[in-house]
Amino acid sequence: DHLRKLKMMKYFLLPSQLAFLCNFVLSKPVQVCPCSETALHVHFLHLAESEIAVHEGDILLRRGQRSAINCESCLWPKSQDGLVKVPVNISSDFSLTERSWIADALQEVSTLTCVKFVNRTTETDYVYVEHGCWSYFGKIGGRQAVGLMKNGCMDKGAIQHEMNHALGFIHEQARSDRDKFVKIVWEHIMAGNFGKVKSKNLGLPYDYSSVMHYGAYDFSSAPGKPTIVPIPNPSVPIGQREGLSNLDVAKINKLYKCNCCSSVLPKPKGSFSSVNYPSPYPNNSNCLWLIRIRQSKIFLQFETFDLQTSSDCSSDYIKVYNGNSKNSPVLLDKYCGKGPLPSVVASGSTMLVEFATDETVTATGFRASYSQRFKIQVPAPKDFERF
Ligand SMILES: *[C@@H]1O[C@H](CO)[C@@H](O)[C@H](O)[C@H]1NC(C)=O
Ligand SMILES: *[C@@H]1O[C@H](CO)[C@@H](O)[C@H](O)[C@H]1NC(C)=O
Ligand SMILES: *[C@@H]1O[C@H](CO)[C@@H](O)[C@H](O)[C@H]1NC(C)=O
Ligand SMILES: [Zn+2]
Repeated sequence: DHLRKLKMMKYFLLPSQLAFLCNFVLSKPVQVCPCSETALHVHFLHLAESEIAVHEGDILLRRGQRSAINCESCLWPKSQDGLVKVPVNISSDFSLTERSWIADALQEVSTLTCVKFVNRTTETDYVYVEHGCWSYFGKIGGRQAVGLMKNGCMDKGAIQHEMNHALGFIHEQARSDRDKFVKIVWEHIMAGNFGKVKSKNLGLPYDYSSVMHYGAYDFSSAPGKPTIVPIPNPSVPIGQREGLSNLDVAKINKLYKCNCCSSVLPKPKGSFSSVNYPSPYPNNSNCLWLIRIRQSKIFLQFETFDLQTSSDCSSDYIKVYNGNSKNSPVLLDKYCGKGPLPSVVASGSTMLVEFATDETVTATGFRASYSQRFKIQVPAPKDFERF
């Protein structure tokens, strides 16, 4: 296993990474994004030199920054419309299928946050997706590579993981407060680095289910020997790469000061309801729920339903999409008034529910439940190593 791991590592070390490692070995690490105390940074490194380490295995730390940069430049800028556009160009080396996986993973971020990944046209600062499994940390200016590859680094959550680095996030288990939540088993660690950093945690909790969290056996020296053990309950799952957690979404929205009402429902079944239910829902709200069940179709049912009635449901409405975007095909078009509503089934493993209200009359809202129906056999990219 050790040998296999080393082989994997070699496999993953592309020339640019080797250069990066050499830079680290041969020269002093340099400061990365010396962010100001005033800005919100979840996981922004703003470290003394000695605290920077190669440990963030898949993060390329930039060296040779000339002078202190304003932290705002580590974040992607927000345009007038409140959206944070991140231009992306995917190398022509990727197949159509791989492109569709990448597009799907990025779409989830675009749907749930104010960060919108857009096709690059002529923008100067942009992400260039090439083969590998790494990312720079935050926006570095100009063209910045993000490495992704099939059979190792292309699960939905793995794609989001690398992109999250480019948005400015470090690994969850590197958070300043991690020792309260996990124990690092140093004697089992073969490679990588499990240091912690003086992160700003945005007032949001530690998240075992983050796509930014390493798995229990990542970089282990032998099978069955965990490198990270959650405390106090060692059986809490860590290292999922199925997709953004609710807190991942909340952290992106907080770091980028987005005003988004969105949640992820990642369990095989559950329920959700309008804000304040059964008290009246708020005026002027727009909320999204992304239901995501791995390799299964989704069955959605409204248990109660009471929305303001209007012609064409132009005031308050529910709308359900067959996919993870408002551009996905519509399963249930704008619906309002009192129920009952027809049940809906998504043809794939994601479904998006939108609930919009206008500025006047409100009502009690709705409560809905969902479950999985019909397993679908989709070959999913898996068996990845996390770098
Ligand atoms: C995207 O990258 C390809 C190389 O993979 C390049 O040929 C193309 O010009 C780039 N497009 C943009 C808009 O940057
Ligand atoms: C981005 O480009 C791809 C083709 O490379 C296309 O399929 C997709 O629709 C484009 N997306 C947008 C938002 O224009
Ligand atoms: C919504 O707005 C109306 C009129 O502007 C107001 O009477 C009502 O109390 C508001 N409802 C809520 C839940 O805030
Ligand atoms: Zn990483």
